Amino acid sequence: MTTTTATSPVLEASGVTMRFGGLTAVRSVDLTVNSGEIVGLIGPNGAGKTTFFNCLTGLYVPTEGKVSYKGTVLPPKPHLVTSAGIARTFQNIRLFANMTVLENVLVGRHTRTKEGLWSALLRGPGFRKAEAASRERAMELLEFIGLAHKADHLSRNLPYGEQRKLEIARAMASEPGLLLLDEPTAGMNPQETRATEDLVFAIRDRGIAVLVIEHDMRFIFNLSDRVACLVQGEKLVEGTSEVVQGDERVIAAYLGTPFEGAPGAEELAEVEAAEAAEATGTPETAEAPEATETPEAAETPEAAESDAAAEGTTSKEGNAQ
Ligand SMILES: Nc1ncnc2c1ncn2[C@@H]1O[C@H](COP(=O)(O)OP(=O)(O)OP(=O)(O)O)[C@@H](O)[C@H]1O
Ligand SMILES: [Mg+2]
Repeated sequence: MTTTTATSPVLEASGVTMRFGGLTAVRSVDLTVNSGEIVGLIGPNGAGKTTFFNCLTGLYVPTEGKVSYKGTVLPPKPHLVTSAGIARTFQNIRLFANMTVLENVLVGRHTRTKEGLWSALLRGPGFRKAEAASRERAMELLEFIGLAHKADHLSRNLPYGEQRKLEIARAMASEPGLLLLDEPTAGMNPQETRATEDLVFAIRDRGIAVLVIEHDMRFIFNLSDRVACLVQGEKLVEGTSEVVQGDERVIAAYLGTPFEGAPGAEELAEVEAAEAAEATGTPETAEAPEATETPEAAETPEAAESDAAAEGTTSKEGNAQ
């Protein structure tokens, strides 16, 4: 199901396909994000979510299809996509570990200042002039995400959850019209996850449309105006949280049961048990890592490694995104 709204499209991806040799990781995916929207992207491990993000941001050149931002087709080059107005965070955090929190945000601003990245890093005379304004803006962003008090800390010393928030601030520093978040709450505790929910609403309220990948279903269904579910590279279902939440094919995809035709009694029982478990999720159970809907999903070393390998092989400029 697709939703049409009167608001203007910020992102339009049509027929995006990404093949790696014989593997089709993303197959003819259409997705629109409108201004003022938060759109969720879900799907089991290996469904193609991150690959789809990589196609949107120019890290990968899609085998087929096109991606437009505010009506203009984007060239598949990360720096051009960023300067057009799309910013992202990464599933495997990419910060400059030995730079301070503030410096990491300042690097994120380089597409919006006349001074280039090297000038920012080397602190040349041109940079000094623009520095005051940039610092002010970067500090404002740190206040926005709640990390202003740690501006001078090295980013590698931040707890994991704060590193994820810092990635968001760095992405926002490029003044995007669309923010892509790849598993922003992976590794966060329930309190941090809830705070991130509020943060994403606040980002939307600043006029930035958001497309977010998450395995935490409570997070995604609370947040999203619309949710699309990818399974084996294809968009299986798209609709409001209510519609997607209740779709048997989505539930079946997560449980690994076949979704063609009507589910048998056994499968139905499994689905009901899963739904009941989710509905009665208590804070104590939510604290346990097993309570996330796909526990092995978020940050298994293999997933992180394959993700890093996938992104690392194609981008020399990942850190500067
Ligand atoms: N550079 C690459 N070369 C070959 N195969 C790749 C590459 N990048 C991704 N893949 C494959 O594409 C498929 C989709 O992977 P992707 O990382 O996009 O999934 P995902 O939905 O983000 O999963 P997860 O929830 O675990 O992050 C997987 O089978 C993966 O192994
Ligand atoms: Mg991924």
